[in-house]
Amino acid sequence: MEALQGRDVLSLADLNAVEILSVLDFAAQLKAGTVQAYCPQVLGLLFTKASTRTRVSFSVAMSRLGGQVLDLSPGQTQIGRGEPLKDTARVLDRYLDALAVRTFAQADLETIASYSHMPVINALTDREHPCQILADLLTIQEQFGTLAGLTLAYLGDGNNVAHSLLLGCALVGMNVVVATPTDYAPLPEIVAQAGAIAANRSQVKLTQDPQAAVQAAQILYTDVWASMGQEDEAKQRLPIFAPYQINAELLTLADPNAIVLHCLPAHRGEEITTEVLEGTQAQIWNQAENRLHTQQALLASLLGATLR
Ligand code: CP
Ligand code: NVA
Repeated sequence: MEALQGRDVLSLADLNAVEILSVLDFAAQLKAGTVQAYCPQVLGLLFTKASTRTRVSFSVAMSRLGGQVLDLSPGQTQIGRGEPLKDTARVLDRYLDALAVRTFAQADLETIASYSHMPVINALTDREHPCQILADLLTIQEQFGTLAGLTLAYLGDGNNVAHSLLLGCALVGMNVVVATPTDYAPLPEIVAQAGAIAANRSQVKLTQDPQAAVQAAQILYTDVWASMGQEDEAKQRLPIFAPYQINAELLTLADPNAIVLHCLPAHRGEEITTEVLEGTQAQIWNQAENRLHTQQALLASLLGATLR
């Protein structure tokens, strides 16, 4: 994994297909315990949004690598008092070995990365959530033994998770269909980027029709209808997104062996019913566990871990 050493991961498309598959393979080995990775380094977590999975899985991953994590939430740093990101970034770069950033604007993440030499990792922005999709792809690979040729249907808001799924599916040769209400489609530039990556190997489609989207899909995926920062719109969005709920009836239209994924946290009775979330086709808890293994593999690769 020398190719990844020192690199930034601001978008999933910062990794190519070979690199993604290598991270997944490495993660599977770490999960199985057939390899151990050691890098006693320090990862900073600069999070301006809430997090359970990402925060804890990055922290445990660094512990397992023999390293440690520093919590750099804005309220505990001078960022909260207005110190410019470019100043903060240059100072953190002198102390830390890597930095995971969760924030609103992708431009802020890019500023931090441009003023740092250490690897900077997107731990979620309004635009993308690449680390989530690495875990999703490992979960899909575990279930189906392959990725290329499978079809994933994403239903709901054309948000950060949808964007990284579009790129991730295209990179590994999966077909991806994104079904959203008219005014909530993913960013056209990301759809175009995913289409260019998929080329003639796989399909990238948008639709407003949730029933059509899930036909023949092996993976159904959803996320909250109002993301962090959009709380004020949550109520108004409910009737608009209601037809996109993953429920038992919709699930009958998909491949009979289809699995259901959700990045969590979930709003039961909104984007997914309790019946489906707690049902036999959901792989949501394995998916959450895989955040740990894929991020451990990613960190070990970016930091040049020693393998045993
Ligand atoms: N899926 C995910 O990123 O969860 P957190 O917001 O809890 O980190
Ligand atoms: N789209 C959601 C994902 C949370 C993990 C959000 O940004 O809030």
